[in-house]
Amino acid sequence: MLKQEPGDGEATLADPHFRADVLNGIAARPRAIPARWFYDRRGSELFEAITALPEYYPTRTEAELLGTICPELDVAPGAAVVEFGSGSSAKTPILLRCIDPAAYVPIDISGDFLRQSARDLADAFPDVQVLPLEADFLRPVPLPNQVADLPKLGFFPGSTIGNMDAYQAVDLLRAMRTWLGDGAKLLIGMDRVKSPDILVPAYDDAQGVTAAFNLNLLERINRELGGTIPVDAFHHRAIWNDSASRIEMHLEATRDIAFEVEGRPFAMRAGETIHTENSHKYGERGARLMLRAGGWTPVREWSDSQGWFSLILAEAQPLARGP
Ligand code: AVI
Repeated sequence: MLKQEPGDGEATLADPHFRADVLNGIAARPRAIPARWFYDRRGSELFEAITALPEYYPTRTEAELLGTICPELDVAPGAAVVEFGSGSSAKTPILLRCIDPAAYVPIDISGDFLRQSARDLADAFPDVQVLPLEADFLRPVPLPNQVADLPKLGFFPGSTIGNMDAYQAVDLLRAMRTWLGDGAKLLIGMDRVKSPDILVPAYDDAQGVTAAFNLNLLERINRELGGTIPVDAFHHRAIWNDSASRIEMHLEATRDIAFEVEGRPFAMRAGETIHTENSHKYGERGARLMLRAGGWTPVREWSDSQGWFSLILAEAQPLARGP
């Protein structure tokens, strides 16, 4: 199956992992497709738009907090900052300006977006070596040789960790611990448990940007996997699952439908959903436990005045060696 990114002008093979996740995910019960597939070019643009919405408090809360606490991070100049996820946000310049690193390595799955934001950051920070790495950070990637001997600060903002289940999150933290090595530090953003009156609108905004973000997954399936999904038959849903401490996003069929993906037939009844995202929210203890299980010792923690969002600085735990 051919994939055509709008504006690319050239056709490429569809990602086989995307194909497998979609076909297996729609066939499974409950139906679920991993949230990582939101981020094609359009999805990344829509996510950027989400971060500016009045209801979506995490981005601005974290950026403000980072600006306030950055001088307290106590990272010596000349380090390598390794950012897991999109480096396009307003947060990265705040961090780079305040800790004055020698190198910046943004790692992102969305290549176009990554390269553009890397170019913008290289222009804004001519003294910092910007070394973008196109990769899925759930699969190990070697860091560029240029940063091998530099002290490392991992940066994982946005509470992106919340989009993983507890096992994946711990695996990822362990992988980060291994990549970044002894002596590394990690600055991680974590969204807090709070009233559903705040949480639900953050994921179901009045302008419908989050709905468009969720529905774009169906457009992407149609575009890249030859799907015939009637996108107008789906409705965006965001719900707070209290027992799992997470916001869930679903795509709900509003009528009985039948469609194909890569020639395979599927049917959904009105009211059935495809589960597309979890966004976990953490209590203080849960956040610390997860970090420890992932090979990091939390050393400092900061929250905004409302206690909505936290930044945690952690140090790599020494690896257990020998008997
Ligand atoms: C990327 N991630 C941390 C966002 C979140 O809040 O879980 C993704 C998102 N989904 C809907 N709105 C934002």
